[in-house]
Amino acid sequence: MAKKEMKKILITGALGQIGTALLPVLIKKHGAANVVASDIKTGLPENISSAIHYENLDVRDATKLAEIIRQHQIDTIYHLAAILSASGEKNPQLAWEVNLRGTYNVLEVAREMDIFRVFVPSSIAVFGPDTPKENTPQDTILRPRTMYGLTKVAGELLGEYYVHRYGLDVRGCRYPGIISYEAPPGGGTTDYAVEIFYEAVKHRQYTCFVSAETRLPMMYMPDCLKATIQLMEADFSRLKHHTGFNISAMSFSAGELATEIKKHLPDFKYSFQPDYRQKIAESWPSSIDDSAAREEWGWEPDYDLAAMTNDMIKVLTQRQQQGLL
Ligand code: NAD
Ligand code: SER
Repeated sequence: MAKKEMKKILITGALGQIGTALLPVLIKKHGAANVVASDIKTGLPENISSAIHYENLDVRDATKLAEIIRQHQIDTIYHLAAILSASGEKNPQLAWEVNLRGTYNVLEVAREMDIFRVFVPSSIAVFGPDTPKENTPQDTILRPRTMYGLTKVAGELLGEYYVHRYGLDVRGCRYPGIISYEAPPGGGTTDYAVEIFYEAVKHRQYTCFVSAETRLPMMYMPDCLKATIQLMEADFSRLKHHTGFNISAMSFSAGELATEIKKHLPDFKYSFQPDYRQKIAESWPSSIDDSAAREEWGWEPDYDLAAMTNDMIKVLTQRQQQGLL
């Protein structure tokens, strides 16, 4: 596994919630000239440096993917393009195509073109109603009920297959719901934990689409980025797992989140009106055992509910005062 070091990076799905936050981190670390952003969306938004290369790429198109890798001499891929859980239930056929075909294309092209390292994120959506709900173990029952979860299980297994069959260095962790202020989330079940902050700051009011009691594992973006970089830089020889590391930071119910926000914004009013996403949320764990990630690559989160809430409110309030919200 001792190929060349990370020099030229391609990110797929770079304009999504995580890609938008990961891009500046990778640019800072490796230089703008060494980062190529790609997405199915056309054009770079203004807040992303025009110094970086941008390519329109549908990950279902393996030929174009290979062309971009050849043209930019890519050696490392962060494969973030995906259709998330709620959007995936609206269009399961599209989720199958983008998530499975896309991941297969990335791994297959990476194998053919001797790519150094590939990051393919997984999700708590790999778990299902038969999985132990509390402190969900690393190695446990993976029988999801969503098309998104199904594609994530397949993605983990496929990545592991490429590690063992071809010696390709593939890594990934099971992100919990990610909370951030850089870009809006893109059609997930945990989106309420982001929307609630925007609505609380802008309108002091939010109707949540899961019940007050719904408790899910969540993580603040700085921890998500830390985990991603740390796993990508970990010593391969220390990894017993590769593509589906449990990672955990905090778990809270939707009601507890609303109460925490109200401590900062006392006039915040909220209610709960569960929709089709309630069933998806109920099929996922409440809390996660991340001891394998801690042991194998030193994972440790920095943010809990109070610290995350404090930061989110501070940043969004500043933006509102500047007329940017
Ligand atoms: P997102 O929906 O915000 O972004 C995904 C991006 O992929 C979008 O910019 C979209 O335009 C792009 N995309 C969609 N179809 C595409 C296609 N055919 N070809 C190329 N690009 C396409 O998602 P995110 O939150 O940034 O998630 C990134 C990764 O992390 C995904 O694999 C997701 O499953 C995983 N993940 C995210 C969370 C979370 O809470 N955000 C949690 C668990 C796992
Ligand atoms: N946050 C993601 C979703 O809700 C979990 O993978 O789909």
